[in-house]
Amino acid sequence: MSTAIRVSDLRVDFYRGETLVNSPLRGINLEIQSGETLGIVGETGCGKTLTATAIMGLLPSSARQRGEIEFGKYGALKPESMQNIRGAEITMIFQNPQSAFNPIFTIGAQMKLVAQKRNFGRAEIPAMLDQILSSVGLTDTKRIVSSYPHQLSGGMLQRCMIAMAMISNPKLLIADEPTTALDATIGDQVLKLIRDLQEREGFAMLFISHDITAVAKVADHISVIYAGRVIENGPAGDVMKNPYHPYTQGLLGAIPSASKARGALTAIPGSVPSLLRDITGCSFAPRCGKSSSQCAQEPPDVEMDEQKVACWMVKQ
Ligand SMILES: Nc1ncnc2c1ncn2[C@@H]1O[C@H](COP(=O)(O)OP(=O)(O)OP(=O)(O)O)[C@@H](O)[C@H]1O
Ligand SMILES: [Mg+2]
Repeated sequence: MSTAIRVSDLRVDFYRGETLVNSPLRGINLEIQSGETLGIVGETGCGKTLTATAIMGLLPSSARQRGEIEFGKYGALKPESMQNIRGAEITMIFQNPQSAFNPIFTIGAQMKLVAQKRNFGRAEIPAMLDQILSSVGLTDTKRIVSSYPHQLSGGMLQRCMIAMAMISNPKLLIADEPTTALDATIGDQVLKLIRDLQEREGFAMLFISHDITAVAKVADHISVIYAGRVIENGPAGDVMKNPYHPYTQGLLGAIPSASKARGALTAIPGSVPSLLRDITGCSFAPRCGKSSSQCAQEPPDVEMDEQKVACWMVKQ
């Protein structure tokens, strides 16, 4: 199996002029094999979207990026080169399909534009659009092509966005909270669609969600991010069954199960640390019930079978 993408020690700092505003990514490491899915989970603000934005080469000019992003046969890439690959070999779908489409053009016009950029000839585009929209489970494709975004439901628009991302036959699909804005049934249909497409097309996927159960449905591996660092990574089944990091345990504890569906969610006490300060030790220590003085030092990478855990306490 070949590695589709490897991200090493990715750091992002935001500046206002020469003043550092915050440092939301503090050394992200991740790797995805061709055809496999890495799920990224973590609370709001932990750096999930920023990781995706850096991979796409789309960070704003106020951001400074360090670390390495290696993409398939291209090897290590600078952000400028990432932009050339973006849209062709790496495509992305978002939480809110409305924002992916321009409201004043039809779906067809917008998809045609993408197809032309990907070197489809004018004559072959209508048949290609019909085929690709059918492949994401849409019928009545002629009507969809001539519709404006507001004329379609959220679920249909989400399928159109997925179809648009498939036009270039990507090697990597980044899905950032693709089901968060949808109700549970439609969300499950979209998950199934993405999985079926992946099986057929063989792309690698970075699947981002704050919902670890959605991630567990699609991911081969899971990386849990906290305050801009991966604090636990491993095969999805192992992480779900046997989470080692107290933060992962907390996230899993925060999932409503059938038995407590009517009760309140168990929230993890405390909040994410300020991303302006330097954090020398484990950034989760102030919220952790198990922390010791050792946790004020640099957190370790402990290997527990196939899981990597950034916690001093797992072996205690
Ligand atoms: N343009 C920016 N300027 C300064 N800080 C930024 C900027 N964009 C993002 N950040 C900071 O980066 C951090 C991570 O943001 P990111 O959007 O990656 O979070 P997330 O994990 O995707 O959260 P959510 O689940 O809410 O989507 C946030 O704390 C945010 O304040
Ligand atoms: Mg986000």
